[in-house]
Order: sequence, then C-alpha cells, then structure tokens
Amino acid sequence: MCGIIGYVGKENAVPIIVDGLKKLEYRGYDSAGVAIYKDDGFDVVKQKGRLSALEQRLAQKPLVGNMGIGHTRWATHGEPSDVNSHPHVGSKNKIAVVHNGIIENYKHLKERLEHWGVNFASQTDSEVIAQLAEHYYSGDLMDAVVKVSNAVEGSYALGVMCVDEPDTLIAIKKDNPLIIGVAKHGHFIASDVPAVLKHTDKVCYLNDKEIAVLKEGSVKFFDIDGEPLEKQVETVTWTMDDAEKGGYPHFMLKEIMEQPKVLRDTIQSVLKSGNNKNVIDTLDISRFNKIVITACGSAYNAGVVARYVFEQLCRMSVEVELASEFRYKNAIIDEKTLVILVSQSGETADTIAAMREAKSKNATTLSIVNVVGSTIAKEANFCLFTAAGPEIAVATTKAFSSQLALLYILSIRFAVKLGKISQVEEQKYLLEISQLPDKISSILKRIDSIQMYASECVGYKSIFFIGRNIDYAIALEGSLKLKEISYIHSEAYAGGELKHGTISLVEENTLVVALSNCERLYGKIMSNAEQVISRGAKVLLIGNCPEAKETDKLFHIGLPQGSELFSPSLSVIVLQLFSYYVAANKGLDIDKPRNLAKSVTVE
Ligand code: AGP
Ligand code: GLU
Repeated sequence: MCGIIGYVGKENAVPIIVDGLKKLEYRGYDSAGVAIYKDDGFDVVKQKGRLSALEQRLAQKPLVGNMGIGHTRWATHGEPSDVNSHPHVGSKNKIAVVHNGIIENYKHLKERLEHWGVNFASQTDSEVIAQLAEHYYSGDLMDAVVKVSNAVEGSYALGVMCVDEPDTLIAIKKDNPLIIGVAKHGHFIASDVPAVLKHTDKVCYLNDKEIAVLKEGSVKFFDIDGEPLEKQVETVTWTMDDAEKGGYPHFMLKEIMEQPKVLRDTIQSVLKSGNNKNVIDTLDISRFNKIVITACGSAYNAGVVARYVFEQLCRMSVEVELASEFRYKNAIIDEKTLVILVSQSGETADTIAAMREAKSKNATTLSIVNVVGSTIAKEANFCLFTAAGPEIAVATTKAFSSQLALLYILSIRFAVKLGKISQVEEQKYLLEISQLPDKISSILKRIDSIQMYASECVGYKSIFFIGRNIDYAIALEGSLKLKEISYIHSEAYAGGELKHGTISLVEENTLVVALSNCERLYGKIMSNAEQVISRGAKVLLIGNCPEAKETDKLFHIGLPQGSELFSPSLSVIVLQLFSYYVAANKGLDIDKPRNLAKSVTVE
C-alpha cells in the first residue's frame, strides 16, 4: 500500500507533490511526508494522520525546491507516528527515500548496519533502504540503488534522492507499481496515474527491477545491470475530471452514479473491435476442463456471482478461491485449467501471487483488470480491461459492476463456443446485458427512498444479508460494502443456512436484508424472512418481487424485471447506496474507511 510521488523540474516541487499525494491518499492515510532537495541537505516534513495535517505543517513552514519526494503511508512495520513516516533520510543526511512495500529481510540488514555503527531513527522496514543506500554510496546514486535492490528481499517501489546529486531522482520497483510521468516542465514518479494527470497524460510503466533516472530535462531507463533500455511513452485515456469529485460529497457517491456510463463503456469494449473483443474471440474455452476464478474482497465476490452464471450457461464446473488461500493450497490445476484473476488495481499482492502460482502450474491465466499497465494486466496470459476509469473511493462500486459485466459476456461467449446455448439465446442475453445501464439509471433515480430508509438504520449494531443462489452471491458484496464503510458488523448467509446456527443471533430489531431475484426461489427466501420476522427481526427485501406485501416489519425496494443471472448488477446498486447512506448518516469518512487502503500491495 501507500502512495509515492516525486518530481524534478522547473516548478516548485512542493505544491505538485502535495497535490499528487491528495490523489494517492486512497492508498494509505496513516501519515504523510515530503522531502525537498536543498543545496546542503533535505527539508523534511512528516506528520502522523491525514494529509491535511501535513498541509497545516507546510502552511506554517513553507518549503520551496525543484526536486522532492512525497509519501502517504499505510503502516506495515512500525506504528503510525511522525518518526515512522516517510521519507526516510539516512543518518549521514545524504540520501532520502520513499518506499511502498515490505522489506522482508530488514531485521537482518538492520542488525548488520547497526553493527557497523549506523543509528536507526524509526521502527520501519523502509529505513534500511536509506541507510543501506548511504552505506553503498560512493559518488554514483544509481550504483547505490542497484546495490540496495540486490541486497533487499521483498517488495518495493522507491523514489531516491541524494544531496550530492542536485538534479537526479531515481526510481526502481519490484512487485509494487510505479509510473513515470513526462511533462513539459519536468518529470514525475508516482504510484498511480491520477497523481500526475494534472500535469501530463504521457506515462511510462516501470517493470520489475527497471531503473528510471529522472532529471529536469531527461528521463533515462536502465536494467538492473546498468544497460540502457528503450521504453515506450504511453498516452493515458483517463482525464483530470475522472480523478475529481465533480461536485459530489464523496468519490464513492460519484462512482456509484457513474455506473450506467461505465457499464455502457465496458459492454461496448467487448462488442466493438479492440483488445477485449480480440481476447474473447481468441480464447478457446474447449481447451479447458476447469475454470478457477481467484481474487480478493469485492473482486472475489464478483467471482462468486460469475460462478453461478458460468455454471448455468456453460454447464462447466467453476471453482472460486480467495487468492490469499489459493496461493498456498497447492491447487489441483494444470494446462487444462483456465484461471481467471479479477482485480480493479491489478496490483493486489495476493492476486499477483495466485497468478504466478497458476502460471507455474501451466494453467492459462486470464485477468480482468481496471488499471492498464498494472502487474496483473501485464503478466497474465490474457487480459480484459474494465472501462471503469480511475476508482478513488476505497470501497469499490463501478469497478465491481464492470467486472460483473465482463464476466457475464465472457460466460455467454464461452457458452456459445461450447455449444451450450444457441446464437438466438446469445443475442437474447446480450440484449438484456445492454439494457442494464438503463435499468441502473432507473434505480439511481430512486435514490431518495433508499437514502431515507438507510437513515433509519444507523443505530443497528449488526445487520445480516441473506439470499439464495445468485442472490446469496450478491449478499456477500452487500455485507462487505456495509461493514467496510459503516463499521456496522454484518454477515452474509445463504438463506437456507440460517437455521443451522446463525438464527440464534436474531433478536428483537435485528435488521435482515433479504435479496430476492430468483423467482423460482421467492417462496424459499420469503420463508426465511418469515422465520426471522417471527423472532423480532425487521426485513429489508430487495428484488423484483411483485407479490411482496409491505408491513411494519417488512420494507421492500423493488428492482426492474430481468433474468436472475444478471440481477446482481441491479441489486448491488441498492446495496451500495444503502451502505453509502448508512455511513453518511454516521458522519464517517466514507472514501477512506479506517484501517483500509485501496490497493493491498502487501501480504
Ligand atoms: C472493496 O470495496 C474493497 N476495497 C476490497 O475488498 C477490494 O475489492 C480488494 O482489496 C481487491 O482489490 P483489487 O480489485 O484491486 O484486487
Ligand atoms: N513497509 C513500509 C512502512 O510500514 C511501507 C508501507 C507502505 O507501503 O505504505 O512504512
């Protein structure tokens, strides 16, 4: 986790870095800091807490300089504190470093350095990088960075400056993202594209162990042996507006409201010629006897939804695995397995490890990713891109919806290739998918009633989500969304499972959110609703249930008609808005929930 940014150029680096950190704060917000180069050393300001606290410090002590590095931290080693904040400067005050990642052998390196007389200031793993770089430095910063890279184990994206090299900013990465921004007035390093969009849409994506040497007027790339590299400058399609709140109080609400558009864009990306269509046309599903979907968090939930769709349409058995479990379970997969990796960021450490594990066992990997240039996008054998644009709120909404859309279309295309559905059925399903954006718009128009209902739910200590079959899959996402931003305890259960234990938790005024879009199972889920109502619970029923009768114990939010297979795309909109407004009514920091960060690039 954590966001890093660096700048060298004609302008004052300080406001550029602080502005960039604002765009990266979603990656971590335990503390923030900047180091600005000056002739005799570095001006360093580091502050525990949100970026606004750092801004206040900088307002009291304005800094100026043409080169600097900044960091917004999600602590892994050492508590969130001023001293553990980045940048870290070595004890000789010669080298300053920002780091994203984990140095796994830091204890060993620290002991060695301490043995040689180096005094450490912080408890972080990252400080060893600065101290080690000073230890190795003998007049050539790139040489020192290469030696550090060879000595450390773990993951890192680094920005490094040295007092003896006034106009040189060095970047290197391994297993954590880093991009290089190329602007007219200078050059950038950053963890993610939105941090530089205000200045440029021209970027290079660093690969593992590639080094970038940035100066005001040049950027040069080298491999780890010091050999020069040619790298392509790419033009990104994301715009500044994509990375701004656009008048909404939170990114999350903006991103919820964007869903009709991003769904249209994502669906179009598969139907029109281009990468997504080519990939789907190329994949020969008949080569495989098994599909495994692996991912984390909401992306995993998208996989659980997709399993029902794949199994229904392709009549092929699909396994869904948490990437953090898959990577260690010695999975039974081989060259006849298609492993689908789902990830908004494309940088989630567990999903990357799962992908590498799958590749090592000769499985074919297909990723569904939102961030172009990310590790999973680059390393998977095939990649489909969701057209969600930058997603800033920690709680995913539009990326999740786009993942579902791609997974639906993938399963339809696979089903045709496998001869399990006819072309007429394919067209019928595709038509229904193309109608989803309008149906979502119609739900978004009823935002007021969802807001009103949610405002009555802030007092609940615990909320259960239930559903059957594909409704259970989307209940998982509803529950995750609620707990992550509202801090209300919540669990999702398959409706039929309640009676096997969980129902003992139901008491007077428990809230149970029941999802019901499987017409054939309506009676079953309503029986579950009755069971909890008779034990004092209130039920919020979400679904296309024309027969539902509201009572003082049962509130119904109706959804547009459609096949159950694609109904999660509709239910999830209500679930997202419900969570959003519960959290908003509690006055919480919705875009940056406590203890979380957007991309979990550490294990
Ligand atoms: C979702 O709201 C969460 N923030 C989280 O579960 C997320 O989906 C998960 O960390 C996976 O991230 P990825 O899609 O970037 O791989
Ligand atoms: N491991 C480092 C720390 O705890 C960096 C964490 C991060 O990537 O934010 O400071």
